[in-house]
Amino acid sequence: MTSTFTSPQGRNPDASTAAVMADGVSKVYGSGDAAVHALRGVSIGFVSGVFTAIMGPSGSGKSTLMHCLAGLDTVTSGRIMLGDAEITGLSDRQLTLLRRDRVGFVFQAFNLLPTLTAEQNIRLPLDLAGRKADQAWFDQVVDVVGLRDRLGHRPSELSGGQQQRVACARALVARPDVIFADEPTGNLDSRSGAEVLGFLRASVREMGQTIVMVTHDPVAASYADRVVFLRDGEIVSEIVQPTPDAVLDQLKRLGA
Ligand SMILES: Nc1ncnc2c1ncn2[C@@H]1O[C@H](COP(=O)(O)OP(=O)(O)OP(=O)(O)O)[C@@H](O)[C@H]1O
Ligand SMILES: [Mg+2]
Repeated sequence: MTSTFTSPQGRNPDASTAAVMADGVSKVYGSGDAAVHALRGVSIGFVSGVFTAIMGPSGSGKSTLMHCLAGLDTVTSGRIMLGDAEITGLSDRQLTLLRRDRVGFVFQAFNLLPTLTAEQNIRLPLDLAGRKADQAWFDQVVDVVGLRDRLGHRPSELSGGQQQRVACARALVARPDVIFADEPTGNLDSRSGAEVLGFLRASVREMGQTIVMVTHDPVAASYADRVVFLRDGEIVSEIVQPTPDAVLDQLKRLGA
């Protein structure tokens, strides 16, 4: 199904309002008898300042879609637009620069450097890009994630939830156009998970961040403004202002 979903603001995302957009994207791994059609003509826009969750059964194409949207994987056909830039067709070097400047990532494994303090980890992407953090923005990010009194600690001295909040702050401090999160609470207990999700939602509400998050958890998805459901490489439905029960019902209908 091709979708022109209406955003919570009632706008149809297009190249002028979408932070990131997939237009007729297909992804085939392998070839011949071994070909796997991971995405089949997916069209979807993610409006700036909106928190979207992507759900669906295992193998439905969630991670593939996220990797294609983020320029971490190439598409077989179709286009990906990041803001006004078409990223499909860029060279590896151009993609690396675009990702560095415009995209943030939060993964299931926190991917923090163990020898650096929380503050050094948060500043690392900017340091690598030779950019200086705007101090007021750094302070705002640190306060939103509630890490002010933990900045001097190393990852091993932080709880799982605190480590993931450091990873979120690291993604946020560079002011990316969009943050992609793949199962960001997958390794956390429910209390730490709620902390991280509350922070992600706050960064959308208070800072206008755009977030696309893959999750299996209906409660995690209910923190988002919008949930889109994939099955067999296609977008099959959407819920705006989701509740855990509505998400669970939809997952049951999809046989997830
Ligand atoms: N590098 C690859 N080579 C071959 N097939 C792949 C590759 N990556 C993914 N696939 C296949 O593409 C399909 C979609 O995979 P994907 O990882 O996007 O699913 P997912 O929805 O993220 O699943 P999960 O919930 O288990 O993480 C699956 O059938 C998977 O086996
Ligand atoms: Mg996956």
